[in-house]
Amino acid sequence: MALDANVTSALNNQINKELYSAYLYLTFADYYDDRGLKGYANWYMIQVQEEVAHAKILRRYLLDNDFKPTMEAIDKPDKTFANDLEPLEEGYKHEQYVTSLINDCYQAAYEVHDFRTMQLLDWFVKEQGEEETNAKDMINDYKLFGSTPQGLFDLDQKYQARVFVAPTMAM
Ligand code: FEO
Repeated sequence: MALDANVTSALNNQINKELYSAYLYLTFADYYDDRGLKGYANWYMIQVQEEVAHAKILRRYLLDNDFKPTMEAIDKPDKTFANDLEPLEEGYKHEQYVTSLINDCYQAAYEVHDFRTMQLLDWFVKEQGEEETNAKDMINDYKLFGSTPQGLFDLDQKYQARVFVAPTMAM
């Protein structure tokens, strides 16, 4: 069954937004790397891989359903940060925005009773819950422990330990 045009448009747009997310998180990693906080930089470089994986899942889905995706221009992430907390807060705001985009995709599928796409998007709905929780946890961690050199060092060590685990759908 061919996908509805509004569904393919929403999913194609979502590919772009996931790649923008990767691009945005690269700038976060750049900020922390420049600060010498290599653990935070590592956390966001892993996040870059996650976002690319999200884009790949959507690309694969469109191709498997006979729709050739179009790679649109990716916006320039245009943020400057005055302190170590700001990227974390921007990250949380951004993930809330991405959740709203996933909801838009879901709405498009829901309107035409596209159960196959809704099933794909169930994974993204759950993933966005995790993305928002991670972002909130990083803000809380920083506010609780990040104001002393020892606390910041310990947090940086913690984020250094993050490794990338590809979602099986993105293989
Ligand atoms: Fe692909 Fe961070 O959501």
